[in-house]
Amino acid sequence: MAEETLSIRDNRTGEEVEIPIVDGTIHATELGKLGLMSYDPAFLNTASTRSSITYIDGDAGILRYRGYPIEQLAEQASFLETAWLLFEGELPTAKELEAWQDKVRLHTYVHTNVTRFLDGFRHDAHPMGMLLGATAALSTFYPDAKEIGDEESRRLQRLRLIAKFPTIAAWVFRHSRGLPYVYPRNDLDYIGNFVNMTFEIGGRHEPNPVLQRALEILLILHADHEQNASTNAVRGVGSTHVDPFSAVSAGVAALYGPLHGGANEAVLRMLDEIGDVKNVPAFIEGVKKRERLLMGFGHRVYKNYDPRAKLIKRVADDVFAQTGLDPKLEIALELERIALEDDFFVERKLYPNVDFYSGLIYRAMGYPTDYFTVLFALGRLPGWLAQWEEMLSDPEQKIARPRQIYTGYDERDFVPLEQRG
Ligand code: CMC
Repeated sequence: MAEETLSIRDNRTGEEVEIPIVDGTIHATELGKLGLMSYDPAFLNTASTRSSITYIDGDAGILRYRGYPIEQLAEQASFLETAWLLFEGELPTAKELEAWQDKVRLHTYVHTNVTRFLDGFRHDAHPMGMLLGATAALSTFYPDAKEIGDEESRRLQRLRLIAKFPTIAAWVFRHSRGLPYVYPRNDLDYIGNFVNMTFEIGGRHEPNPVLQRALEILLILHADHEQNASTNAVRGVGSTHVDPFSAVSAGVAALYGPLHGGANEAVLRMLDEIGDVKNVPAFIEGVKKRERLLMGFGHRVYKNYDPRAKLIKRVADDVFAQTGLDPKLEIALELERIALEDDFFVERKLYPNVDFYSGLIYRAMGYPTDYFTVLFALGRLPGWLAQWEEMLSDPEQKIARPRQIYTGYDERDFVPLEQRG
């Protein structure tokens, strides 16, 4: 028996059980001894897994990947280095990093039929819908990805996804603009190649190193966030042993929603709608009357300033120094100022999250509003894949299949059509 236990007495029967407490949690199946289930429809207080990838202390505003503070990674790491860290658990040596970058370069090309597939979307198709469809379609190009029990195959699929995702994401952007697809250039680094594939016109694109590093930092900040909704989707779908392209497309779908990754797009639409600083107080009053949400505010885990939002504000300074100030920034700053002083937000511990300022930066970089969440997906991909790998290697993980409390009818007899009123 564990040293720490929880005693539960069922007052209906007088039965008592002693449940082990391990790592501050009790195993929900222990309640089965009393014939009870636990009910937690939105996972408010349920750990769905044990994980060694990302640590968050929501009260203290701490985020670490594999033990490394997000501030240090944002300052010093590259995105591919961060992806390696998430996959392998350790920072790569210089030799490992070089070999990893080379391998990624080798896999950046995507089967040319994918371009035809993208061509089939309407000109105004939402970029996240296109990314979602194209990611799922990749599974049909790599049937070997079904070998999810083979560690080497899993490694190859992770590599393929990391390498090809920017190509597809860039082509989604080109499709939206009616521009021809630009193929990967293997003389460029990961971020440079992506930016080139999005913005190159007539064989020319002058890279701006400050903006490219800013984009890289944003991707690092988004790379993992433990059991968020999209990661939970990847793990849940992956737990059926489907291939990783299909599982990741489930993550893209979950991210698309405005309460998750789609919030960065929703923030910009909200700022556009507010239009002017003078309209901010009325907007905040509407939020307090529950007419709407203040998008980009609040978080399930952070009850303090989101550490990523703090870093993003610094990135914004660098970016706006290059591109000039966005007038919408003034509205965002005023929303933040009022909200941080207002009891409604203070009592509920609502602070700006990662999505509050990121959209303004993406816009300054030249990305359209409906494309912002694609950039989030590009950043989150290593996290999804690291979590997928961890889930498959965990002997405790089975197919994710929750239970329910049935609230419907008892048995009743079928009524023939002619007898129904
Ligand atoms: N504006 C106004 N009120 C809010 C907001 C908001 N953005 N967020 C939470 N609240 C209120 C909510 O109404 C509730 O009030 P009460 O207790 O009086 O009923 C209280 O704060 C607690 O909120 P909750 O809905 O129970 O919190 P949750 O953990 O279920 O939801 C959230 C977290 C992120 C979905 C939510 O804060 C939200 O909808 N935020 C706006 C969308 C957003 O910015 N999403 C991005 C999240 S961060 C990055 C990412 O995941 O992509």
